[in-house]
Amino acid sequence: MKSCVGIIGLGSMGASLARNLARHGYKVSVYNRTFEKAEEFVKEAPEEGFALCRTLEDLASSLPAPRVVLSVITAGAPTRAAIEELSKYLAPGDLVVDCANSFYKDSMDLGKEMEEKGILFADCGVSGGKMGALMGPSMMFGGSEKAWELCGGVIKDACAKTKGGEPCAARLGPVGSGHFVKMVHNGIEYALMGAIAEIYGLFRREGFSAEECSQIFKKWDEGDLHGYLIEITGKVLSHRDAKTQKPFVDVLKDEARMNGTGTWTVLSAMELGAGAPSVGEAVFERIVSSEEDLRGAFKPSPAPEISLDSSDAMQALYLSSAVIYSEGFDVLEAASKKYGWGLDYSQIARIWEEGCIIRSDFLPKISEAFKHDPSLPSLLSSPIFEKIEEENGQALRRVVARAVLGAAPCAVLSSSLSYFDELTHPLPLNLLAAQRDYFGAHGYERADEPGFFHTEWEEDGREVRRE
Ligand code: 6PG
Repeated sequence: MKSCVGIIGLGSMGASLARNLARHGYKVSVYNRTFEKAEEFVKEAPEEGFALCRTLEDLASSLPAPRVVLSVITAGAPTRAAIEELSKYLAPGDLVVDCANSFYKDSMDLGKEMEEKGILFADCGVSGGKMGALMGPSMMFGGSEKAWELCGGVIKDACAKTKGGEPCAARLGPVGSGHFVKMVHNGIEYALMGAIAEIYGLFRREGFSAEECSQIFKKWDEGDLHGYLIEITGKVLSHRDAKTQKPFVDVLKDEARMNGTGTWTVLSAMELGAGAPSVGEAVFERIVSSEEDLRGAFKPSPAPEISLDSSDAMQALYLSSAVIYSEGFDVLEAASKKYGWGLDYSQIARIWEEGCIIRSDFLPKISEAFKHDPSLPSLLSSPIFEKIEEENGQALRRVVARAVLGAAPCAVLSSSLSYFDELTHPLPLNLLAAQRDYFGAHGYERADEPGFFHTEWEEDGREVRRE
């Protein structure tokens, strides 16, 4: 019997996705660069009926035409090498879907290369970690309509479903858009995690134990802040280290590592001219956390006392999270404009409702806001989010002020607040515009008259019209 779907790469995500598809009744052909690993994987789950393939050529010949192969290999050079090799055994009209956390521009390049060979290529962001890949991840697909026709059914079967039963997967646009949206998902993930860590840090500074903090997050997870990251924060904080019996978090080094998708989000935001300051601060916080020598160079000064109102903290995290999601959608909008993707933000929020890491009760609200007005200039300008600001703004200001006075790092919380303030109050960067014109004759626009102007600063101060 011919297999229906091929999976190359049996790391934790690939293996879970293969099992997920087998459980949905697909005959799955599997390949891994180290054959023994594939052999072991197939042996471990005889009931799934995997077709074990020793080579990529074997995998290709085990599939009916047009072939559909999901590649779940480490992003970057390994993904490119595997897909290039696989393409030698594929025929025009076959489809390869890159399901790694690849950089979207790499996907666009590889897509063009495959297109020249007549092979269909798609990029699919997969979120939800190992468990999500097994039980139903959120899947962000970028590729042609034709590619989606070939594998949309497979993806919709494998993905998570919203509470209303809709698939948490969709074709978002052409090649590149799937990985771009996944990259922004991860940028949001970084910033939400940063904001949670800062609030946690404030509670610890106030003297709460990890267990007490766990109880707070568990309670918050039952309210408006309900979401996967809040849920796992409660769980992680109550976990005890088996060796020492201490709270698990207390035996870990105060250092966060990263694979880089948050950094890509910030670099892309800068390149596209979109604001994502909270994501940026979250990346810098992780970088600073790893600067062991630098951090060790300072004698800790006595920490000022902090007293935090728990409901203020909850409200601050709530508003900060809203701003962080909004930043993500601002970056998506900039890319959609530049590349002409026509992204549907309501749909993106919907496919993030379940399965992915940033799923939370915000997502149905976001989906609704964009459904109501698809051309919202900013999520924060929607009536739902305006109300969130009205109700929680003062709390976020108080928490940031206390953190600053108490020398507690709060770069993500304060940046989300600043981003909101920058959007709603004068910055005032008209001073910068004047300075640039003074030293560089760069010209400026006036608020009261169309056109482009320059002032002869060093001469008679005369204003001249440039165009
Ligand atoms: C997901 C996660 C996943 C991965 C992150 C971790 O959506 O399932 O985002 O893709 O866990 O890439 O990123 P860092 O290692 O950079 O923290």
